Amino acid sequence: MKFLKSIATIGLLLVCVISAQSQSITLEGTIKDSIGNPLEFANIIAKIKTTSEVETYAITNQNGKYRIDLPKQETYTLVASFLGFDPSEKSITVLETSQDSQLDFTLYPLADQLDDVTIVYEMPVTVKGDTIVYNADSFTNGNERKLGDVMKKLPGVEINDDGEVTLEEIEKKITSRTKVISITHLSNVTGAILPIKEITELAHSKGIIVVVDGCQGAPHLRLDMQDLDCDFYAISCHKMYGPTGLGILYGKKKWLEELPPYQGGGGMINEVKKDRISYGDLPNKFEAGTMATAQAVSYTHLTLPTNREV
Ligand SMILES: Cc1ncc(COP(=O)(O)O)c(C=O)c1O
Repeated sequence: MKFLKSIATIGLLLVCVISAQSQSITLEGTIKDSIGNPLEFANIIAKIKTTSEVETYAITNQNGKYRIDLPKQETYTLVASFLGFDPSEKSITVLETSQDSQLDFTLYPLADQLDDVTIVYEMPVTVKGDTIVYNADSFTNGNERKLGDVMKKLPGVEINDDGEVTLEEIEKKITSRTKVISITHLSNVTGAILPIKEITELAHSKGIIVVVDGCQGAPHLRLDMQDLDCDFYAISCHKMYGPTGLGILYGKKKWLEELPPYQGGGGMINEVKKDRISYGDLPNKFEAGTMATAQAVSYTHLTLPTNREV
């Protein structure tokens, strides 16, 4: 009798597992470059089309193969990407009756990205798409000028004879490929204060994001984020009577909601299943792992000068 009961339990479990599995399909495929080489470590992200929420993601193996599970009754946008290649997007609708299937991607290199940077064989630099990877270990005697050589050719704005960065200079440097303007609020070298509000107005009129280094701006200037209207603003607490290792990143909610987490760890997850993941509400999504608690607590206990509004 006990034996029969066990069989019945196993049977029930199998039914549950089978019915749970049938709620999703397995999608497999290969991500290759334009000449057919498989791309290892390429990313594939499946977003729910209506909400843009990330359903699941995977990384390709050495044969360029990926495998993801997609719950049924949903339409997904699949984005395959790899450093230095143009991402490829495909759409798939998974119906109740859909079966496991196969979807392959071919990615094409972004040949024109940063093409004004010349990389010679000896340089410890790889330029892939918008990303420059510099191997810092290549400095061995301190005399190398390789990074300097690269920097000379990188896009960036010049200061004028008064040590200022003008709006006109920034406007001159904007091209149709400019996606982000990353700029300081108050220079720690010349003391110049940059016209962030005007820079942001100009950038936004061209669909460009503005990221401001406010490490000197925050301690020295009165900030009104609504007025500045920049998209991100970074503050270093040790420049504001605070402890080291602590900072503040202000970001517009729409970007913080749209951006995926840049690292994983404790406290940033809402739910993890074998085939899906959802992240915690803001700001938890970006606060993986144990935070600098001691610094944060000590900062809140510091006595700030009474004549300063924070
Ligand atoms: C404008 C600016 N940005 C960034 C930094 C670096 O900040 P941290 O010391 O927190 O790395 C400094 C430090 O002097 C700074 O003045």
